Amino acid sequence: MTTTDQRRLGEAPDPATLDPAERLSVDELRDLQLERLRESLRHAYEHVPHHRRAFDAAGVHPDDCRELADLARFPTTSKADLRDNYPFGMFAVPKEQVRRVHASSGTTGRPTVVGYTARDIGTWATVMARSIRAAGGRPGDTLHNAYGYGLFTGGLGAHYGAEELGCTVVPVSGGMTPRQVQLITDFAPRVIMVTPSYMLTVLDEFEKQGLDPRESSLEIGVFGAEPWTEQMRREMEERGGIHAVDIYGLSEVMGPGVAQECVETKDGLHVWEDHFYPEVIDPVTGEVLPDGEEGELVFTSLTKEAMPVVRYRTRDLTRLLPGTARPGMRRMQKVTGRTDDMIILRGVNLFPTQIEEVVLRTPGLSPHFAFELVTRGRMDHLVVRVEARPDCPAERRPGAAAEVVQGVKDMVGSSVEVLVVDPETLPRSMGKLQRMTDSRERA
Ligand code: DLL
Repeated sequence: MTTTDQRRLGEAPDPATLDPAERLSVDELRDLQLERLRESLRHAYEHVPHHRRAFDAAGVHPDDCRELADLARFPTTSKADLRDNYPFGMFAVPKEQVRRVHASSGTTGRPTVVGYTARDIGTWATVMARSIRAAGGRPGDTLHNAYGYGLFTGGLGAHYGAEELGCTVVPVSGGMTPRQVQLITDFAPRVIMVTPSYMLTVLDEFEKQGLDPRESSLEIGVFGAEPWTEQMRREMEERGGIHAVDIYGLSEVMGPGVAQECVETKDGLHVWEDHFYPEVIDPVTGEVLPDGEEGELVFTSLTKEAMPVVRYRTRDLTRLLPGTARPGMRRMQKVTGRTDDMIILRGVNLFPTQIEEVVLRTPGLSPHFAFELVTRGRMDHLVVRVEARPDCPAERRPGAAAEVVQGVKDMVGSSVEVLVVDPETLPRSMGKLQRMTDSRERA
């Protein structure tokens, strides 16, 4: 039996409330995409020197895009291209038309800056409202928004979408966890939007205050901005008494609301393809892969004015699948990891989500864990620290550690070291959680 069969599923929205684009057939959608793609490529070529140079160097012109498959001939864009054009070099409209900028904090050096016209902000609110509705939110709901407000796109992106749908937004942002619990208790929201790792911190805080989160008013959690697994879904659904659904997005393409899981199916995320055209490529060769095959997700914006993106390489790994709850729109499978999150341990590829999966199915262990890569002798070792659950008896810990070692070995064929530590000893998330420390000695 698949997890979908076992899972409690939520209620589909009334079809009459869907956006017209959500009801298009595949053929109608492809026609719309081609028209918008040609326009968007032309806009990028005519107004962004970087794209003009890249198209010219690849020997392609926007007029060469006669069908959707022609997009494969156009050059991809990377995060480095955005950094090289810091801060506003990728903008395609005069500065006076840019109503807002956001930026994602680079791990190294300059942040990447993105811009929006008034129409872009409207489009974003539309796709976010669509996402919240697909997650089960409805006009009139109170929505607790614990995504960070500021340069990060999570807070404001969710905020405007929730208002557009007709929700009452509580703009809490991240942090001050005891206050999060107080506001949830006092304002009785039906929907919470937050990163999955911070949701765990909030659930822990409920319990610390002697409250049962299942008794709270929350019915739906819309979790994204970082990878999370089916096991994590079950953990949050059971402990929180909610439906946990996945939301995906990235600043360069728009922000949250590029793709959304529907609560009535919970089977991957529908890409809002009327605005964002997805491709999956082989991350090494750059070749476009057929739907169903796993590779790196690439997006071309179809309607963005201030900063059109052409074949932007997300570094996220997934596969494209046919539509279900929205038959016209393809789904992307839950993102398992990023090409740059992949740990290469003695020649074997390992993703943090694989460890999460094993930890969470091991009785006695909590979802709080962290990794450290260390050098011993001349070998790299991965040390996984996992907190025991508060009710886990001390004598259970060695067995639990051994089960994780075996589980990881069975899954990826690699040995890791597992330490079960006391509850409340590992760092907690306030937003996106950084789980990995690299302490390897460099030769
Ligand atoms: O994280 C936008 C966002 C905010 C999405 C709130 C969802 C909710 P960035 O800071 O630019 O934007 O980071 C984008 O985060 O390329 C993925 O690697 C990762 N990511 C985002 N959503 C998911 C998800 C926002 N649902 C990067 N599953 C992306 C896995 C995700 N990874």
